Amino acid sequence: MKVLRLPREIHEARDSLRKTSDVVGLVPTMGYLHEGHVSLLEAARQRCDTVVMSLFVNPAQFRPGEDLDGYPRDEKRDFAIAEEAGVDIVYAPSAEEVYPAGFATTVEVKGLTEVLCGSRDGRRPEHFAGVTTIVAKLLNAVDPDFAFFGQKDAQQATVIGRMAEDLDFRTRIVILPTVRERDGLAMSSRNAYLSAPAREKASAIWSALLETENAYPERGLDEALRAGVRRLEAAGIEPEYFEARYPGTLDPAEDETGEAILVAVAAKVDGTRLIDNILIEPDKQVRRK
Ligand code: PAF
Repeated sequence: MKVLRLPREIHEARDSLRKTSDVVGLVPTMGYLHEGHVSLLEAARQRCDTVVMSLFVNPAQFRPGEDLDGYPRDEKRDFAIAEEAGVDIVYAPSAEEVYPAGFATTVEVKGLTEVLCGSRDGRRPEHFAGVTTIVAKLLNAVDPDFAFFGQKDAQQATVIGRMAEDLDFRTRIVILPTVRERDGLAMSSRNAYLSAPAREKASAIWSALLETENAYPERGLDEALRAGVRRLEAAGIEPEYFEARYPGTLDPAEDETGEAILVAVAAKVDGTRLIDNILIEPDKQVRRK
């Protein structure tokens, strides 16, 4: 496994892969790898001749006062996990290489980034511009045939898909299912922040989403959402949002349209902000009269 640090090095590597017409897959990460990342790396390994993993804790997607400095990092461990998962190239540039003095460009997707985690009431409006800027840079540098992302970050997945289409990236964006702990908590590098009691409490997030899915056929969307929120509140968790949206447009979902519905949640659990979601497919919405 090669570790490359400079944009010039990844360009050179890509040029030589082009000569062998390898199918190249990219798994962008911010490191501190868990089984969710490993599932993306394995999918990339199955589909592609060459697997590139980027490892970069992207300052542009953190707001002042967020956890950039404390974000968990362990490069040695990440390299070992990546190698075990069959990664061929790790691209791990420094912040100075990615954002050199004079850097002045932002890639921003409008609309889709202004709801849920990007809505204007003190949540994370700048976050997605940071994500799309770094992902655009990575797609440009690596020029992969496929890039793999997790469904846990459902809004991010929709936003990146839109950006790739709007900017004519040739890369196919592949979204893979969320990997969960045994009690349903979505795997996330930020779970490392949770104390034992907070970790236990956090499992209510997935229970609340399941509660909504189960309540929907009998009680309709609004009541099913309320049931989910009650479940969270009973565990002592106040959601920032708990909303039903259409997965492609992120427009608010309506009851009984027969389309798949994304129920997405963000909540702080004892100071750690977690997100999760469930996709309620039409066959799970059929009302039992
Ligand atoms: O999902 C993440 O880990 C990050 O947002 C990503 C896509 C690697 C961009 O920094």
